[in-house]
Amino acid sequence: MKLIHVVGARPNFMKIAPIMRVASGYDDIKQVLVHTGQHYDDSMSKWFLDELGIREPDVNLEVGSGPHGEQTGEIMKKFEKFIMKEGGDIVVVVGDVNSTIACGLVAAKLHIPLAHVEAGLRSYDRNMPEEINRLLTDAISDYLFTPAEEANENLRKEGIPEEKIHLVGDIMIDTLIWEMDRTPDLDKPSFEDIEVGKYAVLTLHRPSNVDDQKTFRGIAEALNTIGKEIEIVFPAHPRTQKQMKEFDINLDRDNIKVVDPLSYRDFLRLYKNSKFVLTDSGSIQQETTYLNIPCLTIRENTERPFTISKGTNVLVGVNPEVIIEESLKIINGNQKKSKGMPLWDGKTAERIVNVLLL
Ligand code: UD1
Repeated sequence: MKLIHVVGARPNFMKIAPIMRVASGYDDIKQVLVHTGQHYDDSMSKWFLDELGIREPDVNLEVGSGPHGEQTGEIMKKFEKFIMKEGGDIVVVVGDVNSTIACGLVAAKLHIPLAHVEAGLRSYDRNMPEEINRLLTDAISDYLFTPAEEANENLRKEGIPEEKIHLVGDIMIDTLIWEMDRTPDLDKPSFEDIEVGKYAVLTLHRPSNVDDQKTFRGIAEALNTIGKEIEIVFPAHPRTQKQMKEFDINLDRDNIKVVDPLSYRDFLRLYKNSKFVLTDSGSIQQETTYLNIPCLTIRENTERPFTISKGTNVLVGVNPEVIIEESLKIINGNQKKSKGMPLWDGKTAERIVNVLLL
């Protein structure tokens, strides 16, 4: 069996790593790795491939950045050419980025079975580019691998046949468990000048937060206030760094440490030892729930509601007053505790490969 794995953007790498590792244990599985080149900075791509032990991609389509239509179209054009020559039995796509839907569409049109890992997540907010990518990828997939029962429920509502849906658990947690065993100095923060439990971590890159000047200013205002109570460490995505310059957003650098994006292990050490996390990322909502670290999600909705009902996540939206109020609660010792999630056990990749081999 020949598996064609697709990666493109930062959050894809930790999802493909465990699947490729497990599949490499089978002599009858041949694996091909395609990197679309959606992310290309070393800090957004190479560091992750290296650290997570993902082998050099067989091909890099080098599409780079661009508006959605252009980026998605470029990936489709180049992936189609590649796959028509290479062939393959199953195309495996992960997550919800533009590379996911672009390669998924090509596979479906060429009648190559498509597997979607992290299927069924829904924010029900079609203003998010990722929501469109999720809906469309799920609609054309043959294998839908879901992280939680809530995702199965969403797919059933959309009329996806039951036999295509496989509840396998969360693939990000496979990587988290694997990397925790291998990260040196796991119980030390990744910077020497910060102390365990005495700082908050921030990530922010959603277009709805950083491409809208008024929203970004409001969030920055909240951060400057919170920074007076607890130091904030902020590894800033390239999109966010660009927007900060463009809008001339001033973060109080005495209390907010802005750094470039970190590698997987450095970021793990950063949030694992923090007091709490402020984020608009999807995956971090899950990782903090797994590690029982309080998480405040700076968005109006989430495609991972189970991190709220069973985990440490609180949706705080973009109103500065609410962001400040919820942060102060945690600083004052009032925080949610995780109840744990079924099937978040590090064996998701094994379950996926077992299904693909059937
Ligand atoms: C993409 C995903 C998003 C994911 C995020 C993780 C889509 C629609 N969005 O968003 O779901 O959470 O990745 O990072 O696929 N840039 C660089 N260097 C890079 C990559 C990007 O400087 O290596 C800058 C460029 O200015 C680029 C901008 O970031 O225009 C946006 O990149 P893009 O891939 O379009 O989307 P992300 O915001 O990274």
